[in-house]
Amino acid sequence: MALGFLDRTMPPGNGPLTSIVILGAGYTGRHLLALATAKGLPVLASSRSPHNHLLHIPAPQRIEFDLFRPVTWRNVPGGAQIIWCFPAAPLNLVAAFAEQIAPHAGRLIVLGSTSAYKPTGTSDTWLDESSAIDQTLPRVQGEEHLRLNHRAIILRVAGIYGPGRNVLDWIRRGRVGPSPRYVNLIHVEDLAGICLLALERARPGEVYNVSDRQPRQWSEICEVAQRRWNVTPLESEAHDRRGKRISIAKLRTELGDPFTHPDLYAALDELESAEAQRALE
Ligand SMILES: NC(=O)c1ccc[n+]([C@@H]2O[C@H](COP(=O)([O-])OP(=O)(O)OC[C@H]3O[C@@H](n4cnc5c(N)ncnc54)[C@H](OP(=O)(O)O)[C@@H]3O)[C@@H](O)[C@H]2O)c1
Repeated sequence: MALGFLDRTMPPGNGPLTSIVILGAGYTGRHLLALATAKGLPVLASSRSPHNHLLHIPAPQRIEFDLFRPVTWRNVPGGAQIIWCFPAAPLNLVAAFAEQIAPHAGRLIVLGSTSAYKPTGTSDTWLDESSAIDQTLPRVQGEEHLRLNHRAIILRVAGIYGPGRNVLDWIRRGRVGPSPRYVNLIHVEDLAGICLLALERARPGEVYNVSDRQPRQWSEICEVAQRRWNVTPLESEAHDRRGKRISIAKLRTELGDPFTHPDLYAALDELESAEAQRALE
């Protein structure tokens, strides 16, 4: 990954590189931080409570930031490339923050959700970035404001899984069952890689769907879970919400094919092995 944008933002002389700021270093943000750090990129991470939640990173890399406390907004350094990793709502605060920060910021990537798309009534339809979105959702209002007024790049993200968020555990705990509903998933490490790719290659003001490109029905996942890992669903899902099939053709055309975990079942195998190994230690 070339990440040429950093070359363009390097000031004359030996000054510091423009940082990437991860706003909201939760599950995805932490993986993003690890990836950016491994690539040697200058990166800062925010928390509403950095002294409690960001103890694993050096103090100079921590930022206190809370969208609901405007006094903390000034902690985001000017010129930074921002990756926004929590729901962009409510609109009034999103708009006020963006007004203050965007004129001095580099690129702005916002993690949205595929739940932005309105249900279609049929599970066979593929949804792409032009499909109808639910503008009544507060986070969709925030995302659209950032996209239309500040040229933010919106990543509409499928269900995130990975270490500590194991799809098989969702089945074991009865959170999901063998329904015909479609689900779209993305491994957190691939999502982190796509965020960095988006910083470099995505077009400002555009939307990109993000998933592993293979919508699956929960009934299929549960059948494989039973056969390969002996995971039995607690009970079948009573409801028949149809789910969605999300196309990522735009992402693959414009950002490339960055997947290291394209196959859900191979990824689940890795997660199960790693968890079994940890249990032995
Ligand atoms: N999880 C999924 O399957 C999924 C699917 C599609 C889309 N998404 C979206 O993708 C993004 C990343 O998801 P994730 O699961 O990695 O999120 P996450 O683990 O909840 O991390 C987000 C972090 O943002 C910080 N935060 C929350 N509210 C904030 C506020 N008002 N001001 C400042 N910081 C705030 C919190 O950290 P502190 O408590 O340390 O401040 C929180 O841990 C989110 O926007 C999520 O809605 C998630």
